[in-house]
Amino acid sequence: MQVMSHHLEKDKTMIIILAISITLQFFAAIYALTLIKITGKVRSWLSISIAMMLMTFRRGFFLYEILGGHPFTDLDWAIESIALLTSLLLVIGIIWIAPLFTSMQVTNLNLKRSNRVLKVLSECNQIIIYTTDETTMMCEICRVIVETGGYRVAWVGMAMPDAEKTVRPVAQYGSSNGYLEQVKITWDESATGQGPTGTAIRTGEVKITHETDTDPHFTPWRVEALERNFRTSISFPIKVNNRVIGALNILSERDVFDKEEVDFISELTNNMAFSIQALHTRQQKEQGDHELFESQQRLNEVIRRSPFGMIEWSKTYKIEAWNPAAEQIFGYSEKEALGKDIGLLIEDATRGSVKTILDEVYLDKGGYFSTNENICKDGKKIICEWHNYPLFSKEGEVFSVASLIEEVTERIQAEQMREYQLKRLSALRNIDTSILGSLDLAMTLKTIIEECIENLNLDAAIIYQYDPLLNRLDYKSSMGFQANGWQYLDDKPGEMLSGEVVLKRKMLRIPDLSEVEKDNYQFSLIKAEHFISYIGIPLIAKGRINGVLEVYQRSPLAEHNGWYDFLNTLAGQAAIAIDNVEQFEELQQLNRDLSQAYEKTLEGWSRTLELRDNETEGHSVRVASIALQLAKKVGVVQEKLVHIYRGALLHDIGKIGIPDSILHKAGSLTDQEWKLMKRHPKIAYDLLSPIQYLAPALNIPYCHHEKWDGSGYPNGLKGEHIPIEARIFAVIDVWDALRSDRPYRKAWDEEKTKNYIKEQSGSHFDPRIVQSFFALLDEIPNNIKEA
Ligand code: C2E
Ligand code: SIN
Ligand code: SIN
Ligand code: FE
Ligand code: FE
Repeated sequence: MQVMSHHLEKDKTMIIILAISITLQFFAAIYALTLIKITGKVRSWLSISIAMMLMTFRRGFFLYEILGGHPFTDLDWAIESIALLTSLLLVIGIIWIAPLFTSMQVTNLNLKRSNRVLKVLSECNQIIIYTTDETTMMCEICRVIVETGGYRVAWVGMAMPDAEKTVRPVAQYGSSNGYLEQVKITWDESATGQGPTGTAIRTGEVKITHETDTDPHFTPWRVEALERNFRTSISFPIKVNNRVIGALNILSERDVFDKEEVDFISELTNNMAFSIQALHTRQQKEQGDHELFESQQRLNEVIRRSPFGMIEWSKTYKIEAWNPAAEQIFGYSEKEALGKDIGLLIEDATRGSVKTILDEVYLDKGGYFSTNENICKDGKKIICEWHNYPLFSKEGEVFSVASLIEEVTERIQAEQMREYQLKRLSALRNIDTSILGSLDLAMTLKTIIEECIENLNLDAAIIYQYDPLLNRLDYKSSMGFQANGWQYLDDKPGEMLSGEVVLKRKMLRIPDLSEVEKDNYQFSLIKAEHFISYIGIPLIAKGRINGVLEVYQRSPLAEHNGWYDFLNTLAGQAAIAIDNVEQFEELQQLNRDLSQAYEKTLEGWSRTLELRDNETEGHSVRVASIALQLAKKVGVVQEKLVHIYRGALLHDIGKIGIPDSILHKAGSLTDQEWKLMKRHPKIAYDLLSPIQYLAPALNIPYCHHEKWDGSGYPNGLKGEHIPIEARIFAVIDVWDALRSDRPYRKAWDEEKTKNYIKEQSGSHFDPRIVQSFFALLDEIPNNIKEA
């Protein structure tokens, strides 16, 4: 029993030892396994772990035997005790050593990583430095990231500015199995823009999707991504000039991105972005250089072919550039012109003012346009229009002045010509108006002289009228003379220059008066006036000289044809003006003479009639003058009066054709005699109508026997069909006839005659006229009664 009890005691202890051993060894085996991972030393720790496992099994089996009643020896005791001790020591050792291993592992990892980082960075820097092509550079960086980072795929996507805001993959590396070609990624707010790439581009922040199989934002790509076992997707924004232009993306099958790794790739991405920016800048510069070159080429070509002269001036007024058109204009070749002073092209006198212009342009304050007289290589003077511009350096400073030059000599001359012509035309119109509008010769000649001086830039001009009958020159008008006495120069043609013009009938041109100087009054005046040149022009109209126009100048005579043409035209106008007036005066005189002659003839005729009709002398004239008065009273127009007078004087001229036997018959007339007597108006008509001068006076002789009621002769006219002058005269004729003795009866007294006239009013006479006649009779009774 004792033994049994003792035995049982020993068994219990053994079981406890075994249990502790088993636990410790199992723990050691597991721990050794973990150390494989921590230290990376597989073989040693695996063997330790296996050994521990075997030992654990061994202990376990032994424990099974003991529990089954298997006795154990003292050796067993010794072995198990040592095993327990060893296990204990081992576990203590492992536990004690483990932290050491852990810290070693971290250091080791860090070292490894730093190495990798350095390697990646240096590789990337190499890429960045040596790659000139953006896409190549991005592909290379993707490669380095994949190869050194151990990721599946790295790719770069650019944010496109299209309407859909797509992300276009521009570089990739790794085994993506056509993933990027399959999926659609955008950077807008839609579902396809909510992945890491879109989010990174929008926000400018790094974006990681750790769980592609569950992340709700990853839905659009899940199937494709999981097929390829992409578990994690991370995007790094690429910022160029503070703007996100795209993202660098990494796809991985494991979630290995810790903060340091993310920071590192971020930095890499930034480096890449920087280099993209650098590449962009370089490209832009190259583009710029290219464009600059091209635009320079273009400009050179334009300058070479420009029809405008192109000159560039230095600050010291030296020619720095000179194009073929400038050579064309000024005659100097580029070689001759370059480096020359501005004085090459201008007269010394204008040098100062031209330099002032250039100075102004240099200050960009004006002088941009000027019209200058320039001198060509052959000495010819030309007029040029200059367009001057300051040329600015990049820093905004004027480094030279460029001039565009156009030669406008002909244009300016043509313009001046046109201006002259216009002015002269209006001058001629003025003169014409003056000639037509007035018969005041002095006024017209004054106008001519004024226009002459103004339009031909003369100092003085004078006009003489020539009277061919008296062979005399008479001063008419002048202007511009300072000395007194020019108006007394008129004389018989002889001493004076004007006389020479008349005699020669040709323009007399004296460019230098001192050469023909004579000792006379005219030259003393010329000297006093300091005239040096002279032109005298005969005024000729209808082949007849009627005057002389003289012009005097204190400067040399003009040279161009237009000037002489205009002077001659003015002289012609003066000749016409003088001729007009002379003609008019002649005509008037002629008219006066003629009417006087006619008047006398008419009066002679009417006196003859009076004699034949046994009328008292002056009777016809008085009757005619009463007719005039009555006509005025009735309101006949002024122009008709003279014809009424003449018609009244001649009213019975037709009686010339009536034989004395009838005219002087004492008794009444037979029918036959009456027939003849009644022909006297028609005889008057036939007699007078061929005479133009008397035609307007015919109404009275032809119609004075017509009666108001239409019973008169020769035509039986009625009422107002009878001309008014005939109606007027009928009253006076009958009044006069009745108040006179006739061979066939004695004169009637006034009362009887008045009554008769009143009685006949409305039948023989126009009542209105009868009324006026009686009114007139009251006003001037004596006159009429005596008639
Ligand atoms: P006259 O003698 O000069 O008369 C002009 C008109 O005055 C006449 O136009 C008539 O309208 C009027 N008149 C003149 N005398 C008388 C008159 O005694 N009585 C009236 N009632 N009226 C008178 P008329 O009648 O056409 O005669 C035209 C002319 O014929 C007269 O001009 C006269 O030269 C001549 N004549 C008219 N009647 C006679 C006549 O009886 N004998 C002669 N020998 N000649 C006569
Ligand atoms: C994304 O890039 O935003 C989605 C797709 C991917 O991560 O693979
Ligand atoms: C010139 O007239 O010669 C050139 C100066 C200018 O007008 O700019
Ligand atoms: Fe009569
Ligand atoms: Fe009569």
